[in-house]
Amino acid sequence: MTQSKGYSRLQIILHWVVAVLIVLQFVLHEGMAEAYDIATETGIYAFSAPVIGHIAGGAVILLLACWRLILRHDRGAPPPPEGEPEIFRKAGHLAHLTLYALLIGLPITGALAWGGRMEAAGEAHELLKNLMILLVLAHIGAVIVHQRVWKTGILKRMMRAQD
Ligand code: HEM
Ligand code: HEM
Repeated sequence: MTQSKGYSRLQIILHWVVAVLIVLQFVLHEGMAEAYDIATETGIYAFSAPVIGHIAGGAVILLLACWRLILRHDRGAPPPPEGEPEIFRKAGHLAHLTLYALLIGLPITGALAWGGRMEAAGEAHELLKNLMILLVLAHIGAVIVHQRVWKTGILKRMMRAQD
């Protein structure tokens, strides 16, 4: 992977916009979950406002995640900060890749469950959703350890652009 001095302004904006959208998908999931329960019982897939919002939010996340991956490929990401133990460097890299995989896998399984009427995809969507919660909590935990224990000032890397 290409290595850069730091994240660009665009990479930083996209990181935080996607983070807010993910939180909204979780906070506002109720209407979609209810509509899906009704749909699997009756076969009627009704497009209410919460359903359209959930689908639109997920579609935007998918597009932005693809954009982020293209930027990461073309421009790269900074190397792990000095002072981070080797095992955590590897874990961090794996966690970031898995987060990207979830940003793409969640909308796809959701679309297959709703649009493709595939119940197994609905179950996969729930499983991936739980994995996303765990990984985001670990991600936030890692940032706290970086800030407090290793004092790498990692948060600044996702706040101040190095264009
Ligand atoms: C809620 C959903 C979130 C997702 C899906 C997410 C995802 C990601 C991903 C995939 C990366 C790697 C970027 C790359 O190298 O291409 C990253 C980096 C980063 N994230 Fe998040 N993030 C989220 C929330 C947060 C939050 C709440 C914080 C702050 C506590 C945070 C702080 C950071 C920092 C500081 C980095 C840079 C790590 C480094 O420089 O190695 N993220 N995030
Ligand atoms: C990253 C994007 C997405 C996130 C974070 C997300 C998150 C969620 C969450 C938290 C639930 C509630 C699950 C539960 O009640 O336990 C849910 C349900 C659902 N979502 Fe999504 N979703 C995303 C994208 C999509 C997309 C694009 C579609 C459709 C095109 C979709 C279709 C569904 C369906 C059909 C359900 C009900 C089935 C189920 O409970 O698994 N989702 N989603």
